Amino acid sequence: MIVAIDGPAASGKGTLARRLAQHLGLPHLDTGLLYRATARALMDEGRDLADVAAAVAAARGLALVDFDEKLLRGRDMGEAASIVAAMPEVRRALVESQRAFARRPGGAVLDGRDIGTVICPEAEAKIFVTATPETRATRRALELKGQGEKVDYAVVLEDIRKRDERDANRSLAPLKPAEDAEILDTTMLDVEAAFKAAVAIVDRLRAAARPHSFSSSPE
Ligand code: CDP
Repeated sequence: MIVAIDGPAASGKGTLARRLAQHLGLPHLDTGLLYRATARALMDEGRDLADVAAAVAAARGLALVDFDEKLLRGRDMGEAASIVAAMPEVRRALVESQRAFARRPGGAVLDGRDIGTVICPEAEAKIFVTATPETRATRRALELKGQGEKVDYAVVLEDIRKRDERDANRSLAPLKPAEDAEILDTTMLDVEAAFKAAVAIVDRLRAAARPHSFSSSPE
């Protein structure tokens, strides 16, 4: 089974995707890391983030394993990632490796912005995770603080609004729910409640696809 989890910045999709993958016994790919690592490679080479040819070369050179998350999770890297992610050439360079990951025997869980719409339109389960910008900013500020970054809530909220705007308005693969996605609003849900809601969605979709399957336990 392919599970596609999409949503805006700090909506909780990463945590949810990890937990679901563990629960289902499936491999997980955080596709945001691909864009973060592409931007990071450019920065490490002293290139401009607007250098499309260099960005495509960096994207093509990525391996899907061993990301140094500590280097990639910072506040500025989210912003840099959304700049290279708006380049159609970079997105195209990353399509095949994401699809190959998704089509492993048994399936996979992928999280990002365009998994249900572009990368895996055939996914059996699509969940679009969202929450208000204020809630997401509170979560992201806490997360960054936990990583030892100095954070100002107002700046984080501004970052989130700017990133939502860029992600939703780019020409290729803009952030939007797939028509057949289930919307999961986590504004009022903690991690555990969001996980339970997602498991219920997956169970329901599985049961609908195969009338005799009632549980989301691994197969
Ligand atoms: O956790 P957060 O949502 O802040 O970051 P992320 O999921 O790692 O994504 C960082 C940026 O990469 C996003 O703002 C998007 O611009 C871009 N991205 C994308 O365009 N498509 C994806 N499938 C995943 C991320």
